[in-house]
Amino acid sequence: MSSVPVASEIEVLDLRHFSARQLRPLLEREAEAWRDRLLWDYRSSTELLLQYLESRILSGFVALDRGRICGYTFCVFEGYKAIIGDAFAVGHRSMDDSDVTQILLIHMLEMLRNTPGVDRVESQLLLFDAGRFARIFAEPVFTVYPRLFLECNLSGYRAALAARSRLSAQGSAQQADSREAPADLELRSWEAMDYQSAGELVYASYIGHTDAQINDQYCSLHGSLRFLHNIVRFPGCGVFEASFSWTLRERRSGALVGMVLCSRVGVKVAHITQICVAQDYRGRGLGRLLLQRCLESLLRAGFETATLTVTEENEQALRLYQQFGFVQRHRFDAMVLDTRR
Ligand SMILES: CC(C)(COP(=O)(O)OP(=O)(O)OC[C@H]1O[C@@H](n2cnc3c(N)ncnc32)[C@H](O)[C@@H]1OP(=O)(O)O)[C@@H](O)C(=O)NCCC(=O)NCCS
Repeated sequence: MSSVPVASEIEVLDLRHFSARQLRPLLEREAEAWRDRLLWDYRSSTELLLQYLESRILSGFVALDRGRICGYTFCVFEGYKAIIGDAFAVGHRSMDDSDVTQILLIHMLEMLRNTPGVDRVESQLLLFDAGRFARIFAEPVFTVYPRLFLECNLSGYRAALAARSRLSAQGSAQQADSREAPADLELRSWEAMDYQSAGELVYASYIGHTDAQINDQYCSLHGSLRFLHNIVRFPGCGVFEASFSWTLRERRSGALVGMVLCSRVGVKVAHITQICVAQDYRGRGLGRLLLQRCLESLLRAGFETATLTVTEENEQALRLYQQFGFVQRHRFDAMVLDTRR
């Protein structure tokens, strides 16, 4: 059990007082935590973040232990919405790291409460266990959605595939391998021209979905395109890999009806950033086909692990992932405050 934090043991100052050079050692420690806990090589995100920090455009706070930086948090504003992008602390001489983080988050929430025009706050602090900040992200102000970070050991998946093809050669496989697309659909790897229709597919796929309550970018076409922009064109969430990302299009109309998107987050680690199938096409094995094609292409390219995140209550998706041998590595929370509801 960590002790109750004593606020006087730390000083909390505005993030914009600090240069990238001063913050770099802390961010490098954070990159180590991402690698150890979630298998992510966070260094490209660190460099990007340091550029933003240097230009003093991020709002947030820094925690100091007798003058030495030991934690930070920042947020970004998108119109009426603030996203708490990160909170991390390490190395305070007498306080627990997550207690320091909690103090930073309390400052952040206080600041956001007093920022005119902010009606919504979203945050997913992936490095922390679900429930860790339950005291400050509490109902009825916040809605908290437990989410899972899953990983799939691709060599285990290779062994399962081999066993399945042996069974199918003997004619005893329960389910035919759905490696080929149905005749009316074309499966191919991602192309730049898929961008607009992918935004439309994301928007349509998440209507009424819990993930649209967690991330309100899903609630509009404009937001869905922004979400895609962050994944496909921006190195914030790993490096997008077109050759391991797959789309399914209707041959006759050319309409996009499903896709899986994948980024490289480590030398041999990939992260599936999106998988969705249009509502009218669900339950036909297309989600399975997309995931299978994605994992097989990763295997062929020498990847060892695939990871993804899923909202715990998204049973359809969770069952699909479990079929491919994905297991839980971590459970964390998504927190949402929306005063417009
Ligand atoms: C998750 C999703 C991609 C599945 O696509 P799909 O084409 O319907 O899935 P499939 O037909 O290939 O089904 C594969 C497996 O998923 C699970 N599944 C699919 N639909 C399900 C349902 N309605 N209820 C329970 N399990 C379901 C089953 O395990 C199924 O295997 P089975 O048929 O052997 O039981 C689709 O539901 C979707 O786009 N959902 C909205 C977006 C989303 O949630 N994405 C995942 C975010 S992490």
